[in-house]
Amino acid sequence: ETELIKINSIDDEALKRAGQCIKDGGLVAFPTETVYGLGGDGLNEVAAKNIYLAKGRPSDNPLILHINDQKMLGRIVSEVTPMAKKIMTAFCPGPITIILPKSNIVPKAVTGGLDTIAVRMPDNDIARALIKYADTPIAAPSANISGRPSPTTAQAVYKDLQSRIDMVLDGGACQFGVESTIVDCTEDVPIILRPGAITKEMLEEIFPVVKIDKAIVGANVVPKAPGMKYKHYAPKVDMILIEGDNEKMSSSIKEILHKYENEGKKVGLLVSDEVANELNHQNTFSYGSQENLAQIASEIYEGLRYFDDKDVDIILAQGTTDKGIGLAIMNRFHKASGFNSIFI
Ligand code: TXA
Ligand code: MG
Repeated sequence: ETELIKINSIDDEALKRAGQCIKDGGLVAFPTETVYGLGGDGLNEVAAKNIYLAKGRPSDNPLILHINDQKMLGRIVSEVTPMAKKIMTAFCPGPITIILPKSNIVPKAVTGGLDTIAVRMPDNDIARALIKYADTPIAAPSANISGRPSPTTAQAVYKDLQSRIDMVLDGGACQFGVESTIVDCTEDVPIILRPGAITKEMLEEIFPVVKIDKAIVGANVVPKAPGMKYKHYAPKVDMILIEGDNEKMSSSIKEILHKYENEGKKVGLLVSDEVANELNHQNTFSYGSQENLAQIASEIYEGLRYFDDKDVDIILAQGTTDKGIGLAIMNRFHKASGFNSIFI
């Protein structure tokens, strides 16, 4: 049985019990400022293997180790590069993950056989307290079944993982709603392997040159972050992304909608408030104003899950800009649709 427990403070007895559970090799899902994580002892090979089993995750897709102080960082990496130090000073704790050479105490089961390790210091009191009580770096992928949208609420975690893990800690909805920005700190310039709430523009304020892994923007490139190659974040039915001129969105989506309805298909719309108001269609999830990218980011995974128990054959999703956190939003949309876009 999986316990689902509301956590009210970091002194909560249940949170201490969860820390002990991780120490003992168990699995605990917990909130972070990005998405919910599925945590286990990152230095325990058996716990790591059980994370892969619970998620149905391919074993070549490495995990992120979550830490709560610099001392823990020093134990799991062989070197903290100047680039990594700069990022830590500017953005940690926060929604960013850095890739560094790993130390010997990190089992290869955690890194999918790689010599590097992904590390992140979350900015969430429950997550930080859990790491402290567990007294070990916590390996935590997003707490979804592999391939499904990441969970931003404890209820979404519970739906996916109930009876597969020991505990789910409910800390309410996540602040950002998309996974952390991943930055490779092992080369001479920082390379973004996965876009997130710490944007390319923000990194460019502290580094003269910031690269983006080509796989983020193109369909047929092998990504440097192994997990980015899988179809991911996907709803249960096919999804088509409509990209391009915002001015034409309502009229274009209306046209495409009618085309599918004329074929007898039931269509779900995943669109902005502006387009939702214009089209006034029954199967609509509105992700907020197209002017408010942070809000869209925090709503997209709920939007992708929304249609799971609705009777629709296909989802039409409205794209957004790729500026700022828009790059993270569009990356998730492209992957959820399998790069199936209509350009208007
Ligand atoms: O916001 C987040 O990062 C969330 C929360 C729970 O912290 N975690 C998360 O983990 O998104 P996950 O497992 O869903 O994604 C980890 C990503 C994968 O794409 C994986 O391939 C990449 O990090 N990764 C891990 N280790 C790596 C490494 N050594 N080199 C390159 N990519 C790595
Ligand atoms: Mg994930």
